Amino acid sequence: MKTATYRLELLFPEATIRRRLAEMATELRPRLRDGLLVVGIFKGAILFTADLIRALSRLPGPKGVEVDFLVVSSYGQGGVSSGQVELLCDCRTPVAGRQVLLIDDIIDTGHTLDMVAKHLRDQGAAEVITCLLLDKPERRQVSFTPDAVGFRIPDLFVVGYGLDFASRHRELPDLMSLHHEEITP
Ligand code: IMP
Ligand code: MG
Repeated sequence: MKTATYRLELLFPEATIRRRLAEMATELRPRLRDGLLVVGIFKGAILFTADLIRALSRLPGPKGVEVDFLVVSSYGQGGVSSGQVELLCDCRTPVAGRQVLLIDDIIDTGHTLDMVAKHLRDQGAAEVITCLLLDKPERRQVSFTPDAVGFRIPDLFVVGYGLDFASRHRELPDLMSLHHEEITP
């Protein structure tokens, strides 16, 4: 009998992520203004958002920074994008007139970022800067170029550091690629 399972392979270790985040904070810093609103997309961006705002706070940075999250519908368990992204829970902080740093874990087809960035602009955000830990440019279905990207990767499924497969593995400190396999005992 064949059993479908998967193995995880190390893609970017914790130390590499930390170094890259420090670089990203330095790159982003000159663009950020006082009163910045950081908006992370729940849940995938929780670890990245937490570490990036800490990296930013180590630099002489904007004052009066606020942090909020919003929730969008996810892929479900299959890992296949329907292209239909739904806003399940908006951020509570008013965005009108604000500079917003929008953070997500990964940009794949681009539907999520495209929808959320448009939504924030529709709500009157003065500027939306988009920041992603990972970018899979080969998979793009919507033309969308993020402002800042941690790592550009090929078409791999990634877990760890906030990213999940079937709601699992978000807690891992490293980024791992997931490979399906069949085991015949
Ligand atoms: P997009 O709308 O296709 O750009 O997908 C973005 C969302 O899909 C991300 O916020 C992730 O939640 C999820 N996603 C895309 N690729 C991966 C992956 O490799 N691992 C885990 N989640 C992913
Ligand atoms: Mg997500």
